[in-house]
Amino acid sequence: MKQDMSSATEENRRVLSGMRPTGKLHLGHYHGVLKNWVGMQGQYECFYFVADWHALTTHYESPDTLGRYVWEMVIDWLAAGVDPEHATLFVQSRVPEHAELHLLLSMVTPLGWLERVPSFKDQQQRIRDRDLSTYGFLGYPLLQAADILMYRAAHVPVGEDQVPHVELTREIARRFNFHFGRDANFEKDAEQSLERMGKQAAGTFRRLKQALGETGDRSVHDRALELIQDQQSLSTDQKQQLMGYLEGRGKAILPEPEALLTEAARLPGLDGQKMSKSYDNIIAMRDDPGRVEQVVRVMPTDPARVRLSDPGEPDKCPVWPLHRIYSDDETRQWVQTGCRSAAFGCLECKKPLIRSLLREQEEIMQRAGPYERNGNLVREVVEQGIANARKAAQETLEVVRDAVGTRYL
Ligand code: TRP
Ligand code: SF4
Repeated sequence: MKQDMSSATEENRRVLSGMRPTGKLHLGHYHGVLKNWVGMQGQYECFYFVADWHALTTHYESPDTLGRYVWEMVIDWLAAGVDPEHATLFVQSRVPEHAELHLLLSMVTPLGWLERVPSFKDQQQRIRDRDLSTYGFLGYPLLQAADILMYRAAHVPVGEDQVPHVELTREIARRFNFHFGRDANFEKDAEQSLERMGKQAAGTFRRLKQALGETGDRSVHDRALELIQDQQSLSTDQKQQLMGYLEGRGKAILPEPEALLTEAARLPGLDGQKMSKSYDNIIAMRDDPGRVEQVVRVMPTDPARVRLSDPGEPDKCPVWPLHRIYSDDETRQWVQTGCRSAAFGCLECKKPLIRSLLREQEEIMQRAGPYERNGNLVREVVEQGIANARKAAQETLEVVRDAVGTRYL
């Protein structure tokens, strides 16, 4: 029955997302995730980071590849159009505040919550060549919660597979706020705010609070909220505090984030399955143009088209979904009719697609160029990002340390 007042509010326009550095990014990442990131950087305060510790939870046996992948991935982001003037790009392990928050959150995280996260058992069963019965791997989603709560982000753009992790983050925020959100003075402060409301309104509030405690009635809850909102003598903070007081919840230190589902423009791979490194069906964002042309030329097509004169069906052909993303209406019409009437061969059909792919790639390469030629440029972007991120992270940590009682100095 409780309305989510500890939720991120409209004023909170922070966005946070991360990716594990596990190799070069491909066009699936570009069309699925990165375009989204780019789209958000103008409207929100965006933090995008390399989740290198997360990579280490599963790839701790090959630490030598991490470094290379980190830089390649940041270049891929920049090549996609992520703009360091508008977004903060950083590397998780260089913002050690994440580790402290992870630790502090762990104090109130029930083991069962982590064991129940679907990816935990799944991956332990699926990945047989590595030992994943580690403390670090169990803590994977908690570390992710720390990443998100560190910036008190309102929105977390992620794919569907990550939704349970954001859900867990919300639960952890709630639990943290419940345990630590009431400092010694909370009740006294709340009572003081009540006095500002005047006798009559304060009396009504007390009656409603008591009734709510006894019945949990939603309409009582709504009436109390309305009463709080109507008080012109109270600041926004005081209203927040009274909402917490009403529900016996204390104040929200860590806001609950929302998952922002990436409407994955699912770009199929070269064989029609989802594009993924493990299926060996990818076109890398910065692939060699010669290879791009070659792999598309040999892509399988509708198996019914054995000879040039055999008509085909785009819906049965892995090339067609690529046309849907890359070709304009006219070209798509041309493909549909020409394929079904066997007006041209598959190689002909692939030509405009290859042209569009190469054109897109040229833009990507152009943006990547300066960073590929000068590694210092990438480092500067990331260093600046780390400085920004640490500043924001330290602000949260101050409040968190204060709440858990470890802020002595
Ligand atoms: N677990 C995410 C993935 O595998 C990566 C990640 C780590 C992340 N921390 C995050 C994503 C925080 C969003 C927010 O894709
Ligand atoms: Fe696929 Fe185009 Fe060949 Fe039709 S003509 S089968 S759509 S490649």
